[in-house]
Amino acid sequence: MTDIQTVGVIGAGQMGAGIAQVAAQAGYEVILSDVDLPRAQKGRDGIIRLLAKGVEKGKIAESDADEAIARITAVGEIAPLAGAQLVIEAATEREEVKRAIFTNVGPLLAADAILATNTSSIPITRLAQAAPDAGRFVGVHFFNPVPVMVLVEVIRGLATTPETVAAVEGFAGRIGKTVVQAFDAPGFVVNRILLPMLNEAVFVLGEGVGSVVDIDMGCKLGLNHPMGPLTLLDFVGLDTALEILNVFLSTTGDPKYRPAPLLVKYVEAGWYGRKTGRGFYDYSGAEPVPTR
Ligand code: CAA
Repeated sequence: MTDIQTVGVIGAGQMGAGIAQVAAQAGYEVILSDVDLPRAQKGRDGIIRLLAKGVEKGKIAESDADEAIARITAVGEIAPLAGAQLVIEAATEREEVKRAIFTNVGPLLAADAILATNTSSIPITRLAQAAPDAGRFVGVHFFNPVPVMVLVEVIRGLATTPETVAAVEGFAGRIGKTVVQAFDAPGFVVNRILLPMLNEAVFVLGEGVGSVVDIDMGCKLGLNHPMGPLTLLDFVGLDTALEILNVFLSTTGDPKYRPAPLLVKYVEAGWYGRKTGRGFYDYSGAEPVPTR
């Protein structure tokens, strides 16, 4: 079985940086790559800030934080990924972007290296078409914020080998995550259930049934969810949520996945949520302010 020592992460955004952080904290060497060095470095800087907070709160020893940071190398090119036994792609949730990455990175990888994707919704069997070996291609779906959320979904494509699944499960266990297995269907288990709920919240808002505050407060207090659906959408990214719903709709043809018109409008306006400073809340001040 592939002995994983070095993990490559492609994409240094919130998911990629989170994966890099937990892997480094578990003792793996990590190569954190993005399209250019400043972006990769920005992801690494964010990890440094989060670990410093952990040290401040007394949750992590300073020496452990320093060692974890020293294990992460930020790179602005793909060549160094050749040294990784496991490469996890955590780039934008767009099929053409992911396929281009696999086509470019594939030829660099060692014969027994595993290529994994953190896709939230795109079928693994279909993405495997662009991978060098469908047997060593697998879905590993993390949840945001990665350092806090314990779940990893492991998704087997039609050709994924049991050895690949076992190696990835071993990795997930070592970084302290609990695995659920999912069949290769759009959205797998968790997003298949979550996204229709988030989408419905935007229909409820768009139809004027409830305000942003009423919808979020209702789900927090009425369902004991840690955050309301509109807050969660701002957190996940409205652009990402829309991409996922469109994958569900186009793959299944089922109109129940039709994105709420207001969600489409917000994305068209560039109001993606926290990452752009505005979504269903405005994040420009000290506290988020509801926008409707
Ligand atoms: N990165 C790292 N750690 C973070 C963090 C982040 N972005 N945000 C919060 N934390 C940590 C805090 O430091 C804190 O740690 P300690 O307990 O060690 O001090 C802990 O999480 C709790 O944070 P807070 O007290 O600030 O706030 P909270 O109690 O409201 O928790 C939350 C924040 C964990 C995000 C919580 O609100 C929550 O669980 N929300 C739901 C998250 C969720 O549903 N995620 C899944 C999204 S869907 C997805 O990811 C799949 C997809 O494909 C779309």
